Amino acid sequence: MISSPFPQPQVPPGTVSADLAGKHVIVTGVAGGIGGCVARHFAAAGAHVSAADIREQALRAVVEDIKSTGASIQAIPVDISNPDSVRAMTDAARTAFGPVDILVHAAAIDAPRGLAWELDDSHWQRIINVDLNGSFWCAKSVIPEMIEKRQGRIILISSVSAKIGSASTSCAYNAAKSGVIGMVIGLAKQLEQHNVLVNAVAPGSIGTGEPMIEEEITFEVANYPLPIVGPDPVARACLYLAGSGGSWTSGSVLNVSGGRLHGW
Ligand SMILES: NC(=O)c1ccc[n+]([C@@H]2O[C@H](COP(=O)([O-])OP(=O)(O)OC[C@H]3O[C@@H](n4cnc5c(N)ncnc54)[C@H](O)[C@@H]3O)[C@@H](O)[C@H]2O)c1
Repeated sequence: MISSPFPQPQVPPGTVSADLAGKHVIVTGVAGGIGGCVARHFAAAGAHVSAADIREQALRAVVEDIKSTGASIQAIPVDISNPDSVRAMTDAARTAFGPVDILVHAAAIDAPRGLAWELDDSHWQRIINVDLNGSFWCAKSVIPEMIEKRQGRIILISSVSAKIGSASTSCAYNAAKSGVIGMVIGLAKQLEQHNVLVNAVAPGSIGTGEPMIEEEITFEVANYPLPIVGPDPVARACLYLAGSGGSWTSGSVLNVSGGRLHGW
């Protein structure tokens, strides 16, 4: 996990939740701030967690730490931009823990600083490939079995920057994260009839991911009405969408942004 300039409260030890106990969740991006926090919360709620990331060593360290709490969790290396690798991830997840009930897709890369039209073309392709295409490959890999079971939850992590942009970083990231929202709306429309619910969470700046420079930290602190407290609220939003509380929520984008973003 990348160190944050903001306070990162400890995840409180969870009590086993009847909602999620025994469910099988794939969480991507577990070597990172939000994915790691999501994995901890689902593990504490009694779910079986298939934890995936491209950074295998860092992933295994997080998984071992969570496993030491007695949790049911396995590490699966994956490159989400490669559909074959994603299919292999989901197959490995199924082999260990059976059919997948929930996907929380948090793996992504940040945009580089700068103006998109001044950066090399490859940055655009890379961000769209990982952040947008990767979200689709992950969703696609779990949809058929969820349709078959007539039950499933898919939660994709977007960003407030899909809706408000960013003055300092390439718009490739905003484009990819807006694409994730469009994908959620389109998938939700086609999957509700199968009782498979698809939603997005749009976090504000929570201090994980790429380290921020001093001016960015000052800007973020000044622009969030509520104090920035790390990834915990994002993980709790995922728990809500995955559990019985979220059983009538589909095609929504949940802003978890400390009041930075209002409305749609
Ligand atoms: N941190 C924030 O402030 C913030 C704000 C809004 C949205 N988000 C979104 O939340 C999600 C998680 O962000 P984070 O803060 O935990 O970032 P992070 O950088 O800490 O974690 C992202 C993880 O994704 C993994 N990853 C990158 N490319 C991959 C690939 N090709 N295959 C598999 N794994 C890959 C990385 O190894 C990393 O562990 C991302 O979708 C991000 O865009 C973050």
